[in-house]
Amino acid sequence: MNEPLEAPAPSARYALILAAGKGTRMKSQSAKVLHKLCGRPLLAHVLSRLSDLHIDRTFVVVGHEAQAVREAFQDYGIEFVEQQEQQGTGHAVMTAKPKLSSLSGSLLVLYGDTPLITAETLGRLLETREATGAAQVLLTAEYAKPFGYGRIIRNSQGEAIDIIEEKDATPDQKMIREVNVGLNCFDVQELLTGLGGLSPENKAGEYYLTDMVRLLHQAGKRVIALSTPHPEETYGINTREELAQMETRLRAAIARHWMLEGVTILNPSTVFIDETVKIGADTVIYPGVLIEGNTEIGPGCTVYSQCHLKDSVLEAGAVIDHCSVVRKSRIGSGAKVGPFAHLRENCVIGGGARIGNFVEVKKSRLGDGSKAAHLAYVGDAEIGRNVNIGAGTITCNYDGVRKNKTIIEDDVFIGSDSQLIAPVTIHKGAYVAAGSSITEDVPEFSLGIARGRQVNKPGWAHEKAKEKELAKKG
Ligand code: UD1
Ligand code: CA
Repeated sequence: MNEPLEAPAPSARYALILAAGKGTRMKSQSAKVLHKLCGRPLLAHVLSRLSDLHIDRTFVVVGHEAQAVREAFQDYGIEFVEQQEQQGTGHAVMTAKPKLSSLSGSLLVLYGDTPLITAETLGRLLETREATGAAQVLLTAEYAKPFGYGRIIRNSQGEAIDIIEEKDATPDQKMIREVNVGLNCFDVQELLTGLGGLSPENKAGEYYLTDMVRLLHQAGKRVIALSTPHPEETYGINTREELAQMETRLRAAIARHWMLEGVTILNPSTVFIDETVKIGADTVIYPGVLIEGNTEIGPGCTVYSQCHLKDSVLEAGAVIDHCSVVRKSRIGSGAKVGPFAHLRENCVIGGGARIGNFVEVKKSRLGDGSKAAHLAYVGDAEIGRNVNIGAGTITCNYDGVRKNKTIIEDDVFIGSDSQLIAPVTIHKGAYVAAGSSITEDVPEFSLGIARGRQVNKPGWAHEKAKEKELAKKG
């Protein structure tokens, strides 16, 4: 129904990613391709490699936890094919036949669990096929430990003529160290014709995509096996241990990248930076920092130990002091946050502003140069410039039913230990006396004071002492 009406150009490029398998060895409820590597699902890594290759359409075969995979990738502009029963990699491709039958050109067939593959390598597969018109170009690698992988069988002229899976290999074949890494580029129509010849007559009882090499070769078609000089980028993930090893490897590469871009990272092996993060030069990152999601850190910032930043922006020269958490927020240039501060979500902290220890801020704006330096809760508040929020101030934003707004205009001074019972507005230049429970708006340049008046009782302590004495005597 959604197929384009006009026939695609012969040089068209398509990609098919196989991601229906259960990933049995992960021992997980969730699909293997949804497991995260450096903050992004495995499948997202593979998809991002395709973005520079001018791929016309990308198809993903889903099966195990199909709905969850579809939901996670609904915004990626990919087309899903559902493989109800996982009867092998060849069967997965057969499932996509209705989507592929009207296409001509090159089809990359990839596995969703090889996240380190580079665009250069995939580009090489595509370009080789386009230049030679081969029916299939596959990537091979020499592994020191080839156990578990399909072995490449070459004839006396060095042509790849078959792939034998571990389960089906003879002891001699098991000695072969050149393996199938699972990355292929096919002529779409040659693939579709060849699929008809697959049969599940093997130890696993599955339709193997790997049999295509033999079928195409027997049919007199051209098959090219390219050996990669970078075997490490072809590693697949089958277990959580492999996932952790790859995480370490990729994290180190990300830290190295930012150090080369001029970022000081004091102890890179303890710092976790997602691939999606950006960091400006001369920023300094202390040990034990976690920076996630779409975080952008400007130049000359400092992030001290044990901070957690997620989906946030730090403008130039901002300082995040020890043990602070900043999520979905924006910190203005030269602002200082922490130690022990918590910016929960949707906070915009102005330039040169200050959020101090044990201050929690949620969905609030704090203008340039404003301060909440100690022990405060600021929620659903609009705060102007040069405002001083005293220690212990609380915006009482929740009345048990709805969240209400506190508005504090420019140059206001809120005395310590005040409660601002929202909705309420403190107008420009006003003062709130310490210890006030403010329930009504304070007009501009006025003092709002809302607390019991103090009464001093002279000699009261002496009376108390007499009372104690009497009580002791009984
Ligand atoms: C496969 C190759 C093997 C190669 C290895 C490289 C075959 C028969 N074997 O073996 O030659 O050395 O990859 O890593 O292809 N999948 C489906 N539907 C299925 C089965 C699998 O979508 O019915 C998907 C999986 O989700 C996975 C990919 O295909 O992303 C590979 O499947 P997997 O079972 O991991 O194949 P291997 O045994 O590793
Ligand atoms: Ca695998």
